[in-house]
Amino acid sequence: MKETQFLPRNYSNNIACGEVAWSSPSNIALVKYWGKKKYQIPQNQSISFTLDACKTKTKLHFEKKDQNNDGFSFDVIFEGAKNEGFKPKIETFFKRIDAYLPFLKTYHFTIETSNTFPHSSGIASSASGMSALALCLVDLEKQLIASDASLEEQDRSVEEDYFVKKASFLARLGSGSACRSIEGDIVVWGEHDEIEGSSDLYGVRYLEEVHENFKNYHDTILLVDKGEKQVSSTVGHDLMHGHPFAKERFGQAEENITKIKAILKSGDLKAFIALIESEALTLHAMMMTSMPYFILMKPNTLEIINKIWAFREETGLHIGFTLDAGANVHVLYPENEAEEIYEFINTELVAYCQNGHYICDRIGFGACKL
Ligand code: DP6
Repeated sequence: MKETQFLPRNYSNNIACGEVAWSSPSNIALVKYWGKKKYQIPQNQSISFTLDACKTKTKLHFEKKDQNNDGFSFDVIFEGAKNEGFKPKIETFFKRIDAYLPFLKTYHFTIETSNTFPHSSGIASSASGMSALALCLVDLEKQLIASDASLEEQDRSVEEDYFVKKASFLARLGSGSACRSIEGDIVVWGEHDEIEGSSDLYGVRYLEEVHENFKNYHDTILLVDKGEKQVSSTVGHDLMHGHPFAKERFGQAEENITKIKAILKSGDLKAFIALIESEALTLHAMMMTSMPYFILMKPNTLEIINKIWAFREETGLHIGFTLDAGANVHVLYPENEAEEIYEFINTELVAYCQNGHYICDRIGFGACKL
């Protein structure tokens, strides 16, 4: 699909006001998106597990404006209170998607949103937040397009496929990784020769064979540092322009998608851990070797990593970690070893979390309408 396929169709329904609500999850990348071209096009392919517990719930109330003026009109209510802080990011999002949803300026919106995880946890809420909002907007668009009751089942599934793709396409324009949050349980973003249907424009569900070992995979998120991010991901992505190792990194990510495809099929957990840990450390290495340079890990991040390595060596259990662009550690492990590993996390790792806080999550199945 090309961008032009997401341009609007005829809106034949005139709706004065109403409400839509969606819940959308966060996701954790296994092969990381780091570096982008213009218009939120990724420099390399990425693949993620959709999460289950970390979600944003968004209710979009819409009301036709009396006068069709030029600007966007919206209020944001975050966790029950009016919030001005989110408005600039949403304004930018609306500007980017205006051509694809021309009704935006004809409504006043009240965006009521909340997270199932603590806001100040240092967990990126842009993926769940932007995907939930994108879903509300495509849902409204669907209502504005008159539905055709005579559609054959096949055409209906084409419509559904379009809905999901457009939601992911729009979410990407809000925040790149958000395009991987519409569906579950594994999503690829970025065109790759070995992933059928993959695209730079939106995320696609990973439909290749996946071994039982990865069913119900756990992700315990250790909240090492709940503060504001030291560098926003947008700034971080920018630092890949002119980065001395950029070309090699983008090539490596492409190869890692090929490798992880074989790993997901075979169920080789050792190889899986080696790949995700290397990806996480490479992401941080890119930040450490950019100009300006950053260290986003904290002493406790390293303490946790070393504890995980020692425990793995000692027990032979398949515990591994990944990191996002911050100090928190995502501890990944299979369902059949969950009991012992969870016990270890509780006794050995929780002490390194800020105020002892962590979040138990696992691989999930994507967004849903509320
Ligand atoms: C390290 O999607 O937050 O989490 O497109 O600028 O909004 P923007 O960036 P964002 O970047 C996420 C980077 C990452 C890796 C990943 O999720 O793939």
